[in-house]
Amino acid sequence: MSEISKKRVLSGIQPSGNLTLGNYLGALKQWVEEQATFDCYFCVVDLHAITVQQDPIELRKKTREVAALYIACGLDPEKVTIFVQSHVSAHSELAWILTCFAPIGWLNRMTQFKDKAAKQQQQDSISSGLLNYPTLMAADILLYQAHAVPVGDDQRQHLEYTRDIAQRFNHIYGETFVIPEVMIPKAGARIMGLDNPLSKMSKSEASDNHAIYLLDEPNRVKKAIMRAVTDSSGEILFSDNPERAGVSNLLTIYQSLSGLSKDETQEHFAGKGYGDLKRGVVDVVNATLDPLQKRYNQIISETGYLDAILANGAEKARERANRTLREVQDKVGFLAAR
Ligand code: TRP
Repeated sequence: MSEISKKRVLSGIQPSGNLTLGNYLGALKQWVEEQATFDCYFCVVDLHAITVQQDPIELRKKTREVAALYIACGLDPEKVTIFVQSHVSAHSELAWILTCFAPIGWLNRMTQFKDKAAKQQQQDSISSGLLNYPTLMAADILLYQAHAVPVGDDQRQHLEYTRDIAQRFNHIYGETFVIPEVMIPKAGARIMGLDNPLSKMSKSEASDNHAIYLLDEPNRVKKAIMRAVTDSSGEILFSDNPERAGVSNLLTIYQSLSGLSKDETQEHFAGKGYGDLKRGVVDVVNATLDPLQKRYNQIISETGYLDAILANGAEKARERANRTLREVQDKVGFLAAR
């Protein structure tokens, strides 16, 4: 299939905190599977990260770390475009234009905004950037005329918002943006916290036994999983019962990483106890992380390798993004710069 006829996909992850197994199973693993079929753009969304204050040195470090992890997880820089969001100024520029079409009421209703705002200690320090976050995300997607956006289940609402903004703009100015579809992975879309299986595994959660990070050592993986919350029923079955959420979560992790079906996973653990389940999960997680970490270390230690990929990615991304931006600028009536 030629590049022209391939459908386009775009997604991104924030370089704040450490990437977790949730990021891998909810996003990266699926991206890797898509790279052969779609024309893919994957960015590290540093503009989104600063919606809450970041340490500048740490932000730079995490930006490279996330990009290196994209590759370590199996994205092939020869096939897909990997870039840093702030390297393509069109993201900020389109975000501003879309901000002027974004009803405050729509933004106020966003669950992620309400959650994040509630977590800020001082209400005075909630930035309007946090409120406008979904508009920047819409710009990311619409600039590339992406047909599909692979994201975790928690981003569904932001995708709806993106579609609404795109439709609003198209309605006023005529067909401009492709209306993107959300793409949610089948198994593993939602990996929950090990310490609290009722909330999503998050890279911004501070507590010790909450998440498995992609760069964790085998011993830390083991510790966190062995301490994972279960229940007293003793049953190892997938279940929608909130009281069984911990066991279901461990089963989901096992199933996604082993490639077994739900039934096969349950059969595998039939007649066994929670200790066996946890040990099984530890093994399958470490077997996944070991080769991934080896590739990561190689990428990071090879001077200039990653920077060259990001420079090349930014150039390709700019080319595509600027075409859309110019069309939009023209439609809203900006005087062409000479
Ligand atoms: N909001 C997304 C998240 O928190 C990250 C993101 C930013 C994104 N821009 C995007 C995801 C564009 C997909 C497409 O996970």
